[in-house]
Amino acid sequence: MKGIILAAGHGTRLAPLTDITSKQLLPVYDRPMVHYSMQTLIDAGIKEILLIVGPEKCGDYLNYFGSGAKFGVRITYEVQDKPTGLPDAFIIGRRFVGDDDVTLILGDNIFEDKLTKAVESFKGGAKVFAKEVPDPERFGVVKFDDNMKAIKIEEKPKVHLSDYALVGFYIYDNRVLDIAKNLQPSSRGEKEIVDLHNWYLEKGELEVELIKGEWIDAGTFDSLLKANNFIASQRKKS
Ligand code: DAU
Repeated sequence: MKGIILAAGHGTRLAPLTDITSKQLLPVYDRPMVHYSMQTLIDAGIKEILLIVGPEKCGDYLNYFGSGAKFGVRITYEVQDKPTGLPDAFIIGRRFVGDDDVTLILGDNIFEDKLTKAVESFKGGAKVFAKEVPDPERFGVVKFDDNMKAIKIEEKPKVHLSDYALVGFYIYDNRVLDIAKNLQPSSRGEKEIVDLHNWYLEKGELEVELIKGEWIDAGTFDSLLKANNFIASQRKKS
């Protein structure tokens, strides 16, 4: 299993903070935000990690993580010149992924859960993760039937679909490389991760697992503050 962290993008929702650095380098309590995504992959047992960054501050990521040796992993770096969509991770990362399966994590997502079992037990298809939230309209949303089987997925639905948000941690088999390559951009000009999910859903090969612990997409001022407070309380507990 290979791992990819996607940490590019404009971060405009956090301007003016992101006028001076990239979103995923902003502090979350005692570390830069992206450190938490890295730690989630490391805790899941992934040893080869591709970090995709924007061109502006790419040297800062290299300064911070280096080769990965101090974390016991090997880190490869790629630059995404423009934020043309989450599935581009699999186009940029094609050579890195090779013939393996791949886990993608977004560089602004913070997880309390260790996702080790989910990664270890992955056998093929796609596995995505959901969490009940009060503000599902901000996210990809999944609707379940009475047996908690996923039946519909939409990106930021305008009409309420369910309260289950899809979090930014995804596991795919190697077919994702070709599926991503063949996706057409949506009306907003980006390739959409929801189209990857729907490809697997239509084939009956998408598994959706609920996550139990805290999950924060730290991409807004309020959620960044929440992430800081959450990590602070975790540190004080340990
Ligand atoms: O946080 C979970 C949500 O993340 C999911 O529920 C949604 O389905 C998924 O689309 C995504 O929604 P966002 O609104 O958070 O997507 P955003 O465009 O903000 O991108 C997420 C992160 O990925 C962000 O930190 C920037 C980075 N990114 C984004 C794009 C489009 C890149 O590095 N490159 C890109 O091309």
